[in-house]
Amino acid sequence: MKKADIGMIGMAVMGENLSMNMERHGYTVAVYDVWDGVVDKFMEGRGKGKNFIGCASFEELVANLEKPRVVMMMIRAGSPVDETIDKLLPLLEEGDILIDGGNSHFPDTARRCEYVEKHGMLYIGTGVSGGAEGAFNGPSMMPGGSPAAWERVKPILQDICAKVDDGSPCCDWVGEGGAGHFVKMVHNGIEYGDMQLICEAYQIMRDYLGMTCDEMHEVFADWNKDILDSYLISITADILTRKDDDGQPLVDKILDTAGQKGTGKWTGIAALDEGIPLTLIGEAVFARCLSAIKDERVAASKVLNGPAVKFEGDKKAFIEDLKNALYASKIVSYAQGYTLMRSAAKTYGWNLNYGGIALMWRGGCIIRSVFLGKIKEAFENTPDITNLMLDPYFKDAIEQAQAGWRRVCAAGIASGVPMPAMTSALAYYDGYRCEHLPANLLQAQRDYFGAHTYERIDAERGKFFHTDWNDGEVGTTASTQYTV
Ligand code: 6PG
Repeated sequence: MKKADIGMIGMAVMGENLSMNMERHGYTVAVYDVWDGVVDKFMEGRGKGKNFIGCASFEELVANLEKPRVVMMMIRAGSPVDETIDKLLPLLEEGDILIDGGNSHFPDTARRCEYVEKHGMLYIGTGVSGGAEGAFNGPSMMPGGSPAAWERVKPILQDICAKVDDGSPCCDWVGEGGAGHFVKMVHNGIEYGDMQLICEAYQIMRDYLGMTCDEMHEVFADWNKDILDSYLISITADILTRKDDDGQPLVDKILDTAGQKGTGKWTGIAALDEGIPLTLIGEAVFARCLSAIKDERVAASKVLNGPAVKFEGDKKAFIEDLKNALYASKIVSYAQGYTLMRSAAKTYGWNLNYGGIALMWRGGCIIRSVFLGKIKEAFENTPDITNLMLDPYFKDAIEQAQAGWRRVCAAGIASGVPMPAMTSALAYYDGYRCEHLPANLLQAQRDYFGAHTYERIDAERGKFFHTDWNDGEVGTTASTQYTV
């Protein structure tokens, strides 16, 4: 009997759909799930009559694979991955490949890669984005790990992934160790940011402009026609049309407390570790946290007052401003996300292809958009650009959007509608383009109370000074400079 080209462990919705996708592309897939009955149900259902080999144990799965074996895990991130690796390693041979396609934390992937390589096998940690539908029709995939594994798995992954219009695959080698999962983590952080920006646009339309869901649907559907054309805008337009059984918009019936599984938080933590101002994604994570304390907010809403500002003016013009605010903020968010990747690449020794990453995100994944094509072009034009906002296309785009962006932020602040992502994006833009930030005063304060020293504008960089601010009362100079 023909052996399988690849083994799949974990036949929940993602594993099942990826397996179906692989089989459709001509691969024979051996499937296994630790939960009793899952494989039988699949073999009798969607898998029936197709090129799948249903397996009842790890041993059976491994015995049914062509060598060098490729085993993909689509299981819950965390300890289940370590446990599965430990079950598989004694059954595998040198050169066999293990792939983790879950949302694993990148340091875990780096550690597992080293561990598996030590045993003579190869390891890949790959981001897989696009949800169940993407897994079935073509996800975006971001593989990293043992470089020697790439040539073997490349045909499979590039066959099953999403393709952009010119046929380019939304999957390519990202880098060593945890690089693939790092890039997927940043993808998810950006996903948090994009979703928060859309939610802020929705809230100001709902609460300040007093628009109905049907009216907002029209706005999002219209925005989806040009620069904001993206999966998340399109599903938002769709969501706003859905009615509950009583004919009222379903979205109005959904409790306003957001969940999160942790990838946005990890992105924020990575940014803090790298010392990179990733303000928009940070705000998006905190906005979810604020939404989660519903009871506290309900109580506070009865005590804490805000302004009673009603919208007056040209609604159409405001919506155009809002589109610009969303667009400019989105540019900031991606600029921040890319600076994080650039910094991490230096820290971990990855040679990331930033245009290639934009291409991987251009199709198949949750943040897919027309906009990513422009990012790819920006990196093609200037591969070592320090900040995307400096690319001529994005510089002009922000300049054109800027007046509307500021009007929207001002309206949000004046009317008491929270817009943490849009306003923090604007603050970052203004901070980034500011030649003289007030950190001179901050350094003076640090030196005043802690003798932390400062550099001077009229001395060379790296030379530190201390002033005796207290006239000799507590005069010490800190000997070490701490940086992030
Ligand atoms: C994707 C998604 C996917 C998942 C998120 C949800 O790229 O397909 O990002 O990985 O939907 O992890 O994350 P939260 O539950 O944290 O919103």
